[in-house]
Amino acid sequence: MPRIAVVPGDGIGIDVTREAVKVLEKLSEISKLKLELVHFDYGADKYLKTGISLPDEAIEDFGKNYDAIFMGALGDPRIPDMAHAKDILLGARFKLDLYVNFRPVRLLDERLSPLRGKGVKEIDFVVFRENTEGIYAGIGGNIKKGTPDEVAIQESLNTRKGVERIIRYAFEHAKKFNLPKLTMSDKGNAMQFEGDLWLRTFEEVGEEYPDIEKEHMYIDALVMQLVKNPERFNAIVTCNMFGDIVTDLGGILQGGLGIAASGNINPEGVSMFEPVHGSAPKYAGTNTANPIAAILTAQMMLDHLGYAREAELVMKAVTKAIRTDNSTRDLGGKLGTREVGDYICSELERTAG
Ligand code: NAD
Ligand code: IPM
Ligand code: MN
Repeated sequence: MPRIAVVPGDGIGIDVTREAVKVLEKLSEISKLKLELVHFDYGADKYLKTGISLPDEAIEDFGKNYDAIFMGALGDPRIPDMAHAKDILLGARFKLDLYVNFRPVRLLDERLSPLRGKGVKEIDFVVFRENTEGIYAGIGGNIKKGTPDEVAIQESLNTRKGVERIIRYAFEHAKKFNLPKLTMSDKGNAMQFEGDLWLRTFEEVGEEYPDIEKEHMYIDALVMQLVKNPERFNAIVTCNMFGDIVTDLGGILQGGLGIAASGNINPEGVSMFEPVHGSAPKYAGTNTANPIAAILTAQMMLDHLGYAREAELVMKAVTKAIRTDNSTRDLGGKLGTREVGDYICSELERTAG
C-alpha cells in the first residue's frame, strides 16, 4: 500500500490539505485506491516552539519509507525571513533531488479565462521548471552589511547534468503525450554563460527528438506571448526562477492560484506534490481558500502513483464543480473551502459506480 507523508504546513496550506485528504479518503472508500496517509506537523508553529524546521532525518525517512509527499504551503508572517519555509520546501526539493517541477496550465472552463477570446482550446500547456539549481542554489553572500558600501552577491548555478536532465524530461513528456512543440526559455541575451549552456544542451538533446518542434524564446518575449497567444505553447522548459515566475502567470491563465497544481518530481525516487500557491496568511482558517489547487495536486499525485482511473474521477468531479459554480469566491462561487471539498466528494461517490 503506498504511503504518503502529509505536511499541511502553514496558513491556508492547512485548510486546503484537509480537503485534499478528504478527497483521498473518499476515494479509498469507493474505489480500489488504498493509501496510508501519515501526517507531519512541520511548519511555522513547530519551528517557533522548537526551532525544528525539517530535520535531515525526516527527509531521509520520507525518501526511504514513503511513496510520495503531499505538502500544503509554507510561509508565516511571524518568520519574515522564511527560514523554516526555505528549509522545508527548498530542503525537500534539493535534498530529495526533485529536479522536475511540473506545473500544468489548463483552463477548465471558458468563463475563468482572464484573456478575451482565449478559451479551453487556447490555454493548455505544461511547464517544466528546473527545481534544484539556478538562483535557488543559495550561493552568494554579503559584506559590509548595513553600511553604505554593502555588497550582496547571489550566483546562479547551472550544471550540464542539471540542465540536460530537465530538458530531456520535458522532451520525453512531449513525446509521450504527442505534444508537437517544446519551447525553451532563457535570458541568454543578458545572461550569456547560462544561456549558452541551456541553448546548446537544448539543441543537442533535441536532436534525439526529430518529431518535436524546438523553439527558443527569451523569457521577456515568452511572458508577452503567453498573454497574447497562449495557444502557441504546448510545453515550456526553463530554469528555476523563470519557471517560478511563469507558473504564477500560468496560474492566472487557468483561473487563478486557487486552481494551479504542481509536482516536484524525482523520476527515480520519491516525489513531492504541492499546489503552486502559498500560505495566504490573510485567509488562513477563514474557510475561504479554494481547495481545488490542492485537490488537483492530489490528482496529479494519484496519476503519478499509477492510479489513473481515480485521477480521472477527481478531474471530472473538479471540472463539474467549477462549471456548476460549486466553487469558492475567487472563482465566482459562493461555497466555502469545506463545502467545495464536500461537493467534490459527493460527485466522486455519485460517479464512482
Ligand atoms: P499566496 O499564493 O499565498 O497568495 C497570493 C494571493 O493569491 C492571495 O492573497 C489570494 O488572493 C490568492 N490565493 C492564493 N491561493 C489561493 C487559494 N487557494 N484560494 C483563493 N485564493 C488564493 O502568495 P503570497 O501572498 O505571495 O505569499 C504568502 C506566503 O506564502 C509567503 O510567506 C510566501 O513566501 C509563501 N509561499 C509559499 C509557497 C509554497 O509553499 N509553495 C508558494 C508561494 C508563496
Ligand atoms: C513556489 C514558491 C517558492 C519558490 C517559494 C516559496 C520559495 O514561490 O513554489 O513557486 O519560489 O519556488
Ligand atoms: Mn512561486
